[in-house]
Amino acid sequence: MKIRLFLAGALLATSALATTVLAKPVVIKFSHVVAENTPKGKMANRFKELVEKRLPGKVEVKVFPSAQLFGDNKVLEAMLLGDVQIAAPSLSKFKRYTKKLQVFDLPFLFNDMQAVEKFQKSPEGLKLLSSMQKKGLQGLGYIHNGLKQLSANTKVKTPADAKNLKFRIMASDVLAAQFQAIDAMPLKKPFSEVFTLLQTKAIDGQENTWSNIYSKKFFEVQPFISETNHGVLDYMVVTSTEFWSELPVDIRAEVKKSLDEAIIYGNKVAAEKAVKDRQRIIDSKRSEVVAISAAERKKWINAMRPVWKKFEKQIGKKLIAAAEASNQ
Ligand code: SIN
Repeated sequence: MKIRLFLAGALLATSALATTVLAKPVVIKFSHVVAENTPKGKMANRFKELVEKRLPGKVEVKVFPSAQLFGDNKVLEAMLLGDVQIAAPSLSKFKRYTKKLQVFDLPFLFNDMQAVEKFQKSPEGLKLLSSMQKKGLQGLGYIHNGLKQLSANTKVKTPADAKNLKFRIMASDVLAAQFQAIDAMPLKKPFSEVFTLLQTKAIDGQENTWSNIYSKKFFEVQPFISETNHGVLDYMVVTSTEFWSELPVDIRAEVKKSLDEAIIYGNKVAAEKAVKDRQRIIDSKRSEVVAISAAERKKWINAMRPVWKKFEKQIGKKLIAAAEASNQ
């Protein structure tokens, strides 16, 4: 009798425990490296708002900005270990998982953000979202930041002005080749270290968007920003294939819907910030925005364009052609 009672009690306790476990919300940790007041930061916060409104008690989103949880050099490894569920690294930071995304780093490939958007929405662009499935990563969408500008300690108008200068770059071989093509010295460093490297003059310059240059205060320690618009800095929102496939179908659909909406919002913020943050920097008078004439731009293109050929095999000729065609 005593044994039967004990067993019944144990059974009850187990099922109560199971209910508690089942009732626990799915936790999505979203880790990124930029400030909250940026296109990506605002997108992540909007995603949290939408998901928690639509799936109360079922899904909880914890957003970790400014590399508080993981830097971009660690976040994808952490994702594969299940320590983070969503991240949105710059498209320049995926080279360990696919060489194809290097297409976005090719200098002077896209004329403007409309072309970037068109390519990302094209069949070739959408296919790239699944290009890392075999490595355990699934792209869920793209989010814009914008076109990159070149900041430096000295006035840089032509490639010759950048010769021998040390530039921080993201961990991308294409970006390294881009600076080597103009006889400058590229240095791969995490985003979180850039301000100090600039402030201490350990490096001479860096390339980034208006939003990142403003939100990370690079303009306070860089007297010149050349308006080169030489490349794009956008992101892929990624998750692990394991986490994504294990989500219940109805929850997955709501999470994806929320993400799509958050991305539309983030892209709107990106377009506004590209204009407003540029103006804020000009108004601050801490840094001079250096205009690049059409003739000078031609010099940059001539110097950097050979980089395309160098990476053609790794990226694929057809993919480069599809990206270039989005300018039409
Ligand atoms: C980011 O915008 O996420 C970081 C970009 C960088 O590393 O420069």
